[in-house]
Order: sequence, then structure tokens, then C-alpha cells
Amino acid sequence: MLTDGVITLAVMTAGDAAALVAGEDDAIVRRLAGGPATPVSAERHIRERAEDWRGDWYRGGTKLAWGVRDVATGALAGTAEVQLVQPELPAGAANLSYSVFPPWRGRGFGSRAVALMCAFLAARTTATLAVLRIDADNAASLRVAERSGFRPAQELAGPRASMRWFAHDLRTRPAPGLQSRMFCPTCGLDMYWVVADDDPVGGWWQCDDAHRWRRAFGGFAPLDP
Ligand SMILES: CC(C)(COP(=O)(O)OP(=O)(O)OC[C@H]1O[C@@H](n2cnc3c(N)ncnc32)[C@H](O)[C@@H]1OP(=O)(O)O)[C@@H](O)C(=O)NCCC(=O)NCCS
Repeated sequence: MLTDGVITLAVMTAGDAAALVAGEDDAIVRRLAGGPATPVSAERHIRERAEDWRGDWYRGGTKLAWGVRDVATGALAGTAEVQLVQPELPAGAANLSYSVFPPWRGRGFGSRAVALMCAFLAARTTATLAVLRIDADNAASLRVAERSGFRPAQELAGPRASMRWFAHDLRTRPAPGLQSRMFCPTCGLDMYWVVADDDPVGGWWQCDDAHRWRRAFGGFAPLDP
């Protein structure tokens, strides 16, 4: 989980499926989802994304996704997602996407989600560039790119690209005040390092629900698969 004190980005669980369906509007369907969600498709999406967190983060097609939550109420307010490997992007560039459900728009949640994703990428991955690709008529998202300090980067897009591209160098320091901690990819709870002298690597990461993990290339692998 990542937080700036106003929103959290936390891995979604099956219990989020109904809120995911209810939060979707035409804009989200048109810009991101490609088709309206159903309870079944939402649950499948959440399950597949949870599997992506447990696998190799750099495998093509892997999407690292979070639910965006309002800290004050705990409500699911949107979604955020990064792709570390995207065929249309140069090596080292990560693609970011986001949605905020209608009741929560205009409060800065979209921009906050982008800042947290950038902090995550800088702290936990080898990505050096964050990229946003936005439809030219998506005024709210263009404003998010601007507010988040992204620069226009049309030079990265092919000559036939119809979307507007923006980029942010992740090697610059993330915004102050952001917290990044280790959270269980399965349940989202805090993880801590368990010291075990008789273990070949000296221990493992564990959450309060007793899910146990080893660091693997680009992420965590379950200790008890
Ligand atoms: C894009 C989206 C995530 C923005 O979420 P948000 O939480 O409202 O974003 P923020 O509050 O951080 O910023 C929104 C900015 O856009 C502005 N804005 C919102 N609607 C606008 C519009 N129709 N025209 C111009 N500006 C608009 C807001 O005023 C705000 O700017 P400000 O802070 O200068 O006032 C949300 O509108 C959404 O989910 N859209 C559908 C899915 C989508 O397009 N995702 C992005 C794909 S690239």
C-alpha cells in the first residue's frame, strides 16, 4: 500500500468488485475499460491483477494495479495501474493509467494517484521514465498531467500516434511527504522481515495474515506456494 495521508493505493480484493462496477461511468468505460464491467468481470480483473503482483513484474502484459481509496472514509474512489513493459514504450519507460469515480472527481485524487505511482516506480522498480498517454479531448486527464509536472513528450510517440504523450523523469526525487512501505501483495497488510537464522537467506517477509514472501526479480514470490 502507498499513501500520502489523503488517499491510499492498495491492492484490490474480491470484496472491491461491487464498488468497482458501481464506480464506473461512461468516461471510464470509453477511456480505459473498453466495455462495461459486470460483477463477474470485475472479480476476474481483481483476481488477475493480484496474480500479476505475485508474478514477475517485468513480464509482458503484467499490470500492477491498485484501488484508490479515500483515507477519510475508506471508500474505493478509483483505480491506478502501471505497466513496466509496454511494447509501444521505450525500455525503462512505465505506462501509468488511472480513473477516479465521479463522486470523487475534482478533489486532486487523480493527481495524487499519479504522484504515488511515480514514488512507487522510483522506489521499487528500475523504471526511469513515467509516461501518460491521453486522448486529446480528455481535458481532465490533460490537466492531471500538467498538475503532476509531466512534460509533453510527443517525440516518444510514433508518427501515427493519435494520443498526447507526457513524460516524467523518475530519477528526480519524488515529492516530499510520500510514504512507501512494504505491503503484502495478497491482502495489502503491512509486511515485516522475519529473521530466521536457519534459513538460507536469513528470513522472509511476512504480513499479519501470515502470508510469507521472498523478494523475487522485480517483486515478491510466495514462500508457501
Ligand atoms: C481523469 C480523471 C482520473 C481525473 O480525476 P480527478 O481526481 O478529478 O483529477 P484531479 O482532481 O487531480 O484533477 C482534475 C483537474 O481537471 C480539471 N477538470 C476536470 N474536468 C474538466 C473538464 N471537463 N475540462 C477541463 N478541466 C477539467 C479539474 O478542474 C482539475 O484541475 P484543477 O485542479 O486545476 O481545478 C477522472 O476525470 C476520470 O476518471 N476520468 C475518466 C477516466 C480517464 O479519463 N482516465 C485517464 C485516462 S488517460
